[in-house]
Amino acid sequence: MGIEKKKYEIVVHEYASLSDLPENDRSLVQAAMEATKNAWAPYSEFRVGAAAETEHGKIITGNNRENAAFPSGSCAERTVLSYTGANYPDQKIRAIAIAATTGGKFTSRPVSPCGNCRQLISEEEDRTGSPIRIILYGRSGIAVLDGVSALLPLRFSNSNLKG
Ligand code: THU
Repeated sequence: MGIEKKKYEIVVHEYASLSDLPENDRSLVQAAMEATKNAWAPYSEFRVGAAAETEHGKIITGNNRENAAFPSGSCAERTVLSYTGANYPDQKIRAIAIAATTGGKFTSRPVSPCGNCRQLISEEEDRTGSPIRIILYGRSGIAVLDGVSALLPLRFSNSNLKG
């Protein structure tokens, strides 16, 4: 058997500024920006806010929760996805928005979830059976993805457990 090369394409919708976003996405980003204020990030001083919106329009926010024992900390996305799944187990998540500040300013580039959080978003998509729109805020532009597969192609999921 020869070696086959396969290309995977990811689609990123880029918006120049908040005012270019559809109304519901814009509100979600604003909620994520607001949520950075309650981050507990005394070690990195990188304050992340995340906001999830359920299919019924309920917005839940969270932020990163650091810990003196560094690995015990939690990312903003983990905080918000755990809360949403625990409290609204029957609702799908339409979208999640993420924003972060450092040095008192929002990041210039869109803030992208860490690998672990991509995996958590993947599980949430599988649990609810529908893709989650991912909105990454940066001062220089906003990146919008239609689902986690754009961030985590070839991901490990429950289907892999079945062989
Ligand atoms: N962090 C998040 O909360 N979300 C991300 O997407 C990237 C990183 C947090 C973890 C840690 O508290 C700080 O940002 C620096 O890595």
